[in-house]
Amino acid sequence: MSFSLIGTGSALPKTIQTNSDLTAFLDTSHDWILSRTGIESRHICIEESILDIALTASINALENAGIEPKDLDLIICPTLGGDTVTPSLACLVQEKLEATCPSFDISAACTGFIYGLDLADAYLSRDRNMKILIIAVDAMSKFIDWKDRSTAVLFGDGAGAAVVTAGTDLQSIHLTAVGNQHALCIPWPKGNHPGLIEKDLPLPYLNMDGAEVYRFAVAAICNDLRRVTRDAGIALEDLDFIIPHQANLRIIESAAKRLKLPMNKFVLRVKNQGNTSAASVPLVLDDLNRQGQLKPGMLIALTAFGGGLTTGACVLKWSKQA
Ligand code: COA
Repeated sequence: MSFSLIGTGSALPKTIQTNSDLTAFLDTSHDWILSRTGIESRHICIEESILDIALTASINALENAGIEPKDLDLIICPTLGGDTVTPSLACLVQEKLEATCPSFDISAACTGFIYGLDLADAYLSRDRNMKILIIAVDAMSKFIDWKDRSTAVLFGDGAGAAVVTAGTDLQSIHLTAVGNQHALCIPWPKGNHPGLIEKDLPLPYLNMDGAEVYRFAVAAICNDLRRVTRDAGIALEDLDFIIPHQANLRIIESAAKRLKLPMNKFVLRVKNQGNTSAASVPLVLDDLNRQGQLKPGMLIALTAFGGGLTTGACVLKWSKQA
């Protein structure tokens, strides 16, 4: 089966936090962050709720697709979590849009958008008439320990959306998961049951083995891109654009070198967005779409990796007219 992307949308919160802003409360420097990650600034949800950015990205995607919320048959929201544990973020977006379709969140961390595309493809194999909104949203600023310089400098907040329906864009897709809570983990808050509060519970903040994730990420990009291009019957060189998860410029550079591909095939937004988790890939896709850089027939690969550990990649043959 296959699908086409008929609309994209995105939203970034207003507040921009530069590397220099971080030095006010962290023992770090602009030069360290830039040289280790390629990041200069990121957007943070201060004035907006997570729902606000999810809704803006969704409305943009629906407008770009030329459809109304009432036309939607399903809303899938890849996210680490919205403003509430329940209702799901997808249900709250559905309410605000005044849509009436089933809606649910999925948890695949930074790979969530590609997991969402695969799920949409499965639904479309059952009913080719469905119109599905995938709204990938993360506010990593809510999960970070802002006293931990080794992680706080890496992430930002954002939302990226796509509307998909039956079509011919999808050429191949591949997902993986290797359960591992040592490499990257965000524990849930554990509540205040009197039997628990005396014990040493982990704090509900992101903790990560940066070096392990780095090695995993480079291998994931290389293995997954080789796999999906082979499955699509094309060479890596045939790709017009590669949209990688925007975690760290050095990870992308290492993968490009290993794959012997020029860096200009990789679309980069990490400098001014940081790692926006599930939103990272669809944010870039929407930017390219809105700039009119995607032409019918172009071959685009999406590739992501993240907590789980999960990875995913796909090849799309773009069909939407600018
Ligand atoms: N500012 C200044 N110094 C910092 C710092 C910061 N923000 N964060 C860490 N350091 C220090 C460390 O304490 C360490 O000091 P030491 O040598 O005195 O112990 C030193 O910098 C080097 O740290 P190291 O961890 O070796 O740096 P690195 O070059 O491996 O880069 C990461 C660290 C986190 C940037 C890198 O490992 C990475 O990007 N990993 C992948 C993370 C990722 O993408 N996660 C999300 C996946 S979805």
